[in-house]
Amino acid sequence: MNGRDLVRSMKRVGSVGASQGLRTVRAAWRRRRADAAGLPARGAERARVPGPVQEVEPAPGGGTLRFSRSELRILVAVNGAVFWGWDGAGPEPSYALAGRCPEPDPRAVLEPDKDGGWRVVAERVTVVVSRHGAIEVCTPGGVMLRREMPPRWWEPQDGGAARWMQRSEVAADARFFGLGGRASGPRLRSGTYRLWNTDPGRAFGRGDDPLYLTMPVQVVVSDAGTHLMFHDTSWDGTVTLREGEEGAGSGHDRAGACELRMDGGPLRCWVMVGTPARVLLAWASLTGAPALPPAWALGHHHARWGFGSEQEVRRVVAGYQEHGLPLDAVHLDIDHYDEHQVFTVDQDRFPKLAVLAEELRRDGIRLVSIVDPAVRATPGNAVYDSGLAADVFVRDASGQLVEGVVWPGEAVFPDFTHARVRRWWGGLYAERTAQGFSGFWHDMNEPTSFAAFGEPTLPRSARHALEGRGGDHREAHNVYGLCMAWAAYEGLRELVPEERPFVFSRSGWAGLQRYGGTWSGDVATGWPGLRASLSLVMGLGLCGVPYSGPDVGGFDGSPSPELYLRWFQLGAYLPLFRTHASLKAGRREPWEFGPEVLEHARAALVERRRLLPYLTTLAYLARRTGAPYVRPLWWGSPEDRALRDCEDAFLLGDCLLVAPVLDPGADRRAVQLPRGLWYDTATGRSYRGPGQVVVDAPLSRIPVFARAGAVIPVRGDEGLELEVWAPARGRSGGGLVVRGLGDGWEEPEVERYVTRRAGRRVLVEREGEDGVYEPSHPVRVRGLDEG
Ligand code: GLC
Repeated sequence: MNGRDLVRSMKRVGSVGASQGLRTVRAAWRRRRADAAGLPARGAERARVPGPVQEVEPAPGGGTLRFSRSELRILVAVNGAVFWGWDGAGPEPSYALAGRCPEPDPRAVLEPDKDGGWRVVAERVTVVVSRHGAIEVCTPGGVMLRREMPPRWWEPQDGGAARWMQRSEVAADARFFGLGGRASGPRLRSGTYRLWNTDPGRAFGRGDDPLYLTMPVQVVVSDAGTHLMFHDTSWDGTVTLREGEEGAGSGHDRAGACELRMDGGPLRCWVMVGTPARVLLAWASLTGAPALPPAWALGHHHARWGFGSEQEVRRVVAGYQEHGLPLDAVHLDIDHYDEHQVFTVDQDRFPKLAVLAEELRRDGIRLVSIVDPAVRATPGNAVYDSGLAADVFVRDASGQLVEGVVWPGEAVFPDFTHARVRRWWGGLYAERTAQGFSGFWHDMNEPTSFAAFGEPTLPRSARHALEGRGGDHREAHNVYGLCMAWAAYEGLRELVPEERPFVFSRSGWAGLQRYGGTWSGDVATGWPGLRASLSLVMGLGLCGVPYSGPDVGGFDGSPSPELYLRWFQLGAYLPLFRTHASLKAGRREPWEFGPEVLEHARAALVERRRLLPYLTTLAYLARRTGAPYVRPLWWGSPEDRALRDCEDAFLLGDCLLVAPVLDPGADRRAVQLPRGLWYDTATGRSYRGPGQVVVDAPLSRIPVFARAGAVIPVRGDEGLELEVWAPARGRSGGGLVVRGLGDGWEEPEVERYVTRRAGRRVLVEREGEDGVYEPSHPVRVRGLDEG
């Protein structure tokens, strides 16, 4: 045992009492003992590779190749995605898939290739399998995007899960992105990334890995094309990436490399090839369309760990109102629970919560509740008693309840990998909706159990239902948060059928977007934390989870007024815009940082509000196409290498480019522009990309550019307006406007606009089924003198 860890852990739980420290020591020992008893010792292992191919059996969309020591199934699905699985692994069951595996594409056929190999030729991709089981993913033109070496397994001689390893190569110029929420991205440099959802136990910075939400999804961008590779296995593992290098002069290229090592689970994967937009579309069609947040959730959220009372919530809300600061949601943290127990309310400090919720709602402000999965293991605690009666908690191999230590003390954990348990849990939100909560913030669901040493989660030997298949925490851990979100989403659909559920979750896995979004967790206060928080949002978006955002100001410390403001200005352009901090970090209301910050924060809030129709449109597009609201600059030009390396700016939909200030003292910054004409929205000046420009970034704002030809729906004084940025001479432009998206299930109206430049004039027209019409909203043209 490590004394330093123990002290750290005692500090961590200091806010709920030092006796917790001892509990975490006990919990860690318990976990270690459980694993020693409940998991087979690894013992001797036998290594295996597929061996030579022996027979082949075509099937719709591909077929099966039998090697001497394994078999490989390949299937091209109708959405263009390619599946393959070794050792008989099929695409189902899978927690990532939105439903059943998509139908095979009957046009894709398995046919002989050279040197005794085989290939499947599909519309957008060709997959070539060598006679020893190496797999190449190529573009239809035959350019290789990725080469997977024959896999290698290590099987325990006495039976049990096989470990496996898969090496691959990509082009020398390729860049890696994704793997869930990573602090050091968005470009994932050479290094090892772990696939095990983890509460780092303290506020995290750029170097910390893994974090709360990992997933085996890589988006790889190279000159030859973009692909998304998903290894569909939820077990613990690591991905070691090595970026390639192009040989200078007469030197050789060194290919990029990836080595995936998994502790168990099926070796199966999905790969999608095409433009970034096409790849994300295929990914969303496979793992599910992103849930559409209710309209209010695109506004400004304010959270605090430690409001402490209804009066304080009222005081803070009044502060927002008095200072003319738009506010759309207030989040209550664990301090409003009765002794930190989920689904309870501290009646002394929050005696009339439902009344407060109603009053806030009348002012257009929603209440959001934190929801932690751990249930205090004390008879008399109603959630515990009802859970025991329904037999919902995780047990060990001997049938004992698995106990951990979280905020409420000794606690047990629902097994969300069971439909019955999800139903039970989903029903508990009735207590929350009765209190007037409209949204739910899932936390500590990696799941976290404080530990004085070792990993802060459940024992690996803990048993889980896994939809009736049965298994242990090694397989269930990474999908725990995903299944909790599933439970909440389904429960809320029944409890409040007229509203779209709003759930966002600290942990999750591939497919989380079906139920909601996430946030960046406890990011360290500091400039590196600001950068890390942007990295998470971009990486998650590329993994199919488009709705997220950071704790503005960072979680743990006191940001300087400048850092707070720069974070605030960035947050105002991210899908989830929320201020929040730890119990000890102090207040985060904009007026706590002096009059200058207050004025500029107000401007950011007002601009956010003005852009709401655009954000709603992006939310709708994310649902329909899988395209994240926040996109890397290379989204539309993946062939532009300078953009692949650009990590400090992003596209917000098709129309805007946001260049946050991420360094102290900066009042100008360089911005790498993609090709085309761009307007600095503050000055109206135009710049032509591709290339780098340097623009002003005074404390009052961060640089935001609009694409020439953009039609942006904004909220004007009289309602919806169209802000149109003049197309470049001889060019046209356009945009979508999604109207009438509220908080329910109503189908919105989608209007399509086109714009053209005619000399000194800019024409804006709405495209209808049988012609073009006048715009349905007032139009304001900008940039005319420049373009
Ligand atoms: C965790 C969460 C944080 C929350 C705190 C108390 O650290 O990440 O957002 O405020 O727990 O509930």
